[in-house]
Amino acid sequence: MLSKITIIGAGAAGLFCAGLLGQKGYDVTVIDNGKKLGRKILMSGGGKCNFTNLNVEPKHYLSQNPHFCKSALKRYTQWDFIHLVNQYHIAYHEKEHGQLFCDDSAQQIVDMLVNECQKGSVNFIMQTQLNDMEWDVGKFKLHTSKGVIECDKVIIATGGQSMPALGMTSVGYKIAEKFNLPVVPVKAGLVPFTLHKPLLDVLSTLSGIAVRVEVSIPKISFKDNLLFTHRGLSGPAILQISSYWQAGDIIKVNLLPNMHFETEFKPLLEQNRNQNIKNCLAQVLPKRLVEALMQLNLVADLTVKQLNPKQQQNLYDSLTQWAIIPNGTEGYRTAEVTLGGVSTDGLSSKTMEAKTQPNLYFIGEVVDVSGWLGGYNFQWAWSSAFACAQAFG
Ligand code: FDA
Repeated sequence: MLSKITIIGAGAAGLFCAGLLGQKGYDVTVIDNGKKLGRKILMSGGGKCNFTNLNVEPKHYLSQNPHFCKSALKRYTQWDFIHLVNQYHIAYHEKEHGQLFCDDSAQQIVDMLVNECQKGSVNFIMQTQLNDMEWDVGKFKLHTSKGVIECDKVIIATGGQSMPALGMTSVGYKIAEKFNLPVVPVKAGLVPFTLHKPLLDVLSTLSGIAVRVEVSIPKISFKDNLLFTHRGLSGPAILQISSYWQAGDIIKVNLLPNMHFETEFKPLLEQNRNQNIKNCLAQVLPKRLVEALMQLNLVADLTVKQLNPKQQQNLYDSLTQWAIIPNGTEGYRTAEVTLGGVSTDGLSSKTMEAKTQPNLYFIGEVVDVSGWLGGYNFQWAWSSAFACAQAFG
């Protein structure tokens, strides 16, 4: 038997890596503090797991070193994972923006990963928490809730901090620091915004309404749906921008992302000259949203023909450059991902091995590489796990 490897975390990255290494003949044990394997996979994509994306590029990832993810993503691509999914005859479909979801259930992805582990005779020790770890006379000693485990190589795949109810811990960062690896401060990403009163009082009445928008901050913008909630703003466009947002930043919301002033908006006003503005706009935006915009003094209670050309332009600008300063985010409770983590400065981009400690590896979300919404985070889990497994020959 080849050397003893312990993987901490039976999530996407840990399970995939375990299967690959087990099939290479290594003695692999996976430790997880939960009862079930792949818990986040099971709840991902509304239970259908958005397992990858047809268009994976390094620009879809946030990291202090945007180049770090390139090597792993190139060596195990979305097409490689799709090939594996096809081998298991798992039916899937593209939703939008290249996002691939299972037709039936995320359970199929977990079953596939578990089957790959079974082919490699991987051992699982569940409901067992890693609390600490040390390097002692050529072995790692893992201090777990069920006693000390010794092994030759350790792969940390403990994920991020989001959804603390699922048993997420910060032990991955603690171990990194213990082995002198820098850790980039963590925060919630892909997360809804909360709003201040009185804006919240007005917009919370729209809870459940979704509109197609373009949301931007100076460096980036996303065109997708915005969802009003009783706490603030959510929906894919908001989740995406939240990963780039810093406290205090203004976000600009374009409520008419497909209407140009001269070619679409002015003709709309012309055709509805005798109507009041509210009814005119209700042809292109939900009526309740228009009413809320009136309450916020962004839309006047006038007829269209009362607007002079300058006021027409002002109305258009209000609707396409609606400036909102979020109060904050909902935090890890509802975040899909954790930004920051074990700094890529301390890891090899080829193998994911720690530069300060041989035979110690970090893969998946615990590393300072976070993807956009749309299957990119799972692809990072698969690609980083593959890079690590390759390192073992
Ligand atoms: P992951 O979090 O999957 O696994 C870590 C494991 O380690 C967990 O089982 C945890 O219990 C265990 N663990 C932690 N500390 C431990 C300790 N001290 N001792 C023992 N075990 C410990 N991404 C995507 O690409 N498409 C999608 O559709 C979605 N959807 C989605 C929905 C929701 C609700 C969330 C919260 C997240 C997503 N994501 C997603 C993100 C995706 O789930 C995430 O990026 C990956 O699961 C990360 O995989 P990892 O294996 O790194 O961590």
